[in-house]
Amino acid sequence: MLELLRKVSSAHGVSGFEKKAAETIRGLIADYTDEQYTDTLGNLIAVKRGNGQGRKVMLCAHMDEIGFMVTFIEEKGQLCIAPVGGISFAASSYDRVMSEKGVRGLIVPRGGVKPADYSADKFYIDIGAKNRKEAEKKVKIGDVFRFEADVVRLCGKRVCGHPLDDRIGCAILIEIAKALANEKINDDIYYVFSVQEEVGLRGSKTAAYAIAPELSLAYDVTATGDVPGDTPMACSLGDGAAIKIKDNSVICDPTLVEELVDIAKKEKIKYQLEILTYGGTDTASMQMARAGSRACALSVPSRYIHSGNEMLDLDDAIACVDLTVAYIKSIN
Ligand code: CO
Ligand code: ZN
Repeated sequence: MLELLRKVSSAHGVSGFEKKAAETIRGLIADYTDEQYTDTLGNLIAVKRGNGQGRKVMLCAHMDEIGFMVTFIEEKGQLCIAPVGGISFAASSYDRVMSEKGVRGLIVPRGGVKPADYSADKFYIDIGAKNRKEAEKKVKIGDVFRFEADVVRLCGKRVCGHPLDDRIGCAILIEIAKALANEKINDDIYYVFSVQEEVGLRGSKTAAYAIAPELSLAYDVTATGDVPGDTPMACSLGDGAAIKIKDNSVICDPTLVEELVDIAKKEKIKYQLEILTYGGTDTASMQMARAGSRACALSVPSRYIHSGNEMLDLDDAIACVDLTVAYIKSIN
């Protein structure tokens, strides 16, 4: 799982600019699916065809990541930026960033600004340019930067790096596809790697409209309540796949939640229940597509979400794979 996560994390994919991420993921899932295509917005869709009698099942993880777009180049060569997605500026000061073209720099707070006042206009990217002229040789208005991609191992099965939100979900989908590749499944399984989740669940909307699934599962990170000072939350690193009951965008199908809990108990797969009091997921787009679908999500609890270094436990991701494979087999 670690090697796969590193591969899918290595490709650039700031929201709206996911082409490289899509290419990388396509190469990793092609062998396990019957067809792969991208739609108008850039969603990557890989399909394992059933026997033509089954349902349409949509499994979705977003491949876009938060980042920074260059809006202006200052006289001394610093780059002004607009955030793409909900950046945690307090957590990202002086982190290394890299543009889609490979230009490196640091994301830096302007002098004298207090952390309480942090926002995009109080930050610039320093690429080390002497002045505007030198900067303009490397960067133009509209270029996008991401936090430098890197996934490192910590204690036990814990890892940290970027962009774990949501390349861990992408890695989970690839592992599910691998596990189901040689199984006889009646349902059509659509593995959807969505675009522009971080700016408002946009890609999954059009993908779910086109596919019109009857059953949907999203895979994403969720917050935890397991470090000092956290808001109380019944999710911890290492306690298993988090079966979502609710977040700010969706109330999951209660029967589907129950079915997933039953399978987890029966197959002895570690699970926990998730209620996230803020934030949204692609689950909502799939639930409300066309006439609606039964929707739920399996989340990987993560610390420090939307900083340049998120942390999670790989065993939780593996539990998401095992639970999905067991569930899909059970309904087929
Ligand atoms: Co996110
Ligand atoms: Zn996410």
